[in-house]
Amino acid sequence: MNLLLMGLPGAGKGTQAERMREKFDIPHISTGDMFRAAIKEGTTLGIKAKEFMDAGNLVPDEVTIGIVRERLAKDDCGKGFLLDGFPRTTAQAEALEQILADTGRTIHFVLNIDVAEKELLARLTGRRICRSCGGTYHIIFNPVNVEGVCDKCGGELYQRDDDNEKTVATRLQVNIRQQQPLLDFYQEKGYLRHIEGSQHIDNVFKEIEEVLCQAVAKENK
Ligand code: AP5
Ligand code: ZN
Repeated sequence: MNLLLMGLPGAGKGTQAERMREKFDIPHISTGDMFRAAIKEGTTLGIKAKEFMDAGNLVPDEVTIGIVRERLAKDDCGKGFLLDGFPRTTAQAEALEQILADTGRTIHFVLNIDVAEKELLARLTGRRICRSCGGTYHIIFNPVNVEGVCDKCGGELYQRDDDNEKTVATRLQVNIRQQQPLLDFYQEKGYLRHIEGSQHIDNVFKEIEEVLCQAVAKENK
């Protein structure tokens, strides 16, 4: 299955992608994670991306499209993929259509996780991430058993540089502006499915499973 996961910052894309990767055994491709890895390694891409990310702005399309094109050409994407946080502009969506068409592929479903804007600030500023396994937690909504320590691997938790109030405000503004044209683009193509993202994390995942199972059954009829 070739899937896209959409939603505003903090909607729960990364949280759900972790579960979907395990359940459907497809690679999880997050452009945000790819940029953060490049920053950590100090590559030219990382140096370029950091400036935009720290300000809460989007990394330019040509850079972002390039890394996704390269990633989708890897062998493991042959069995499907889960793109998280890409595309974020209509130029990226159009480029993705072309990348897939060039390799005889298509998108199957676009899942948009809907969460009211007012919930997102608290989600993002309270997020904590494991340095070792990348597991995502929240100080209130999804707390760890021992403060500062990952439940899954014992790794140290940290807060993302862009999860401060000022940068979050810009990220939300930027993404809200881009969101509607993208949703219209995928609605028109018939790929779009909405997921209610304000429920408990487990129930969001249940809804994703149901939507995908129903959609696949319909396709196979
Ligand atoms: P990226 O890393 O993609 O960040 P984002 O879109 O801002 O999304 P987040 O990772 O912040 O949120 P999420 O939806 O994954 O939420 P999560 O599951 O963690 O991008 C970062 C930056 O990179 C961008 O700002 C941009 O600069 C650049 N970039 C990336 N892609 C780009 C592109 N395509 N083009 C250009 N630039 C790009 O959950 C958030 C918190 O809420 C967690 O603490 C979690 O525990 C909690 N939570 C999750 N679900 C629930 C729930 N149901 N109830 C309560 N709490 C919940
Ligand atoms: Zn961990």
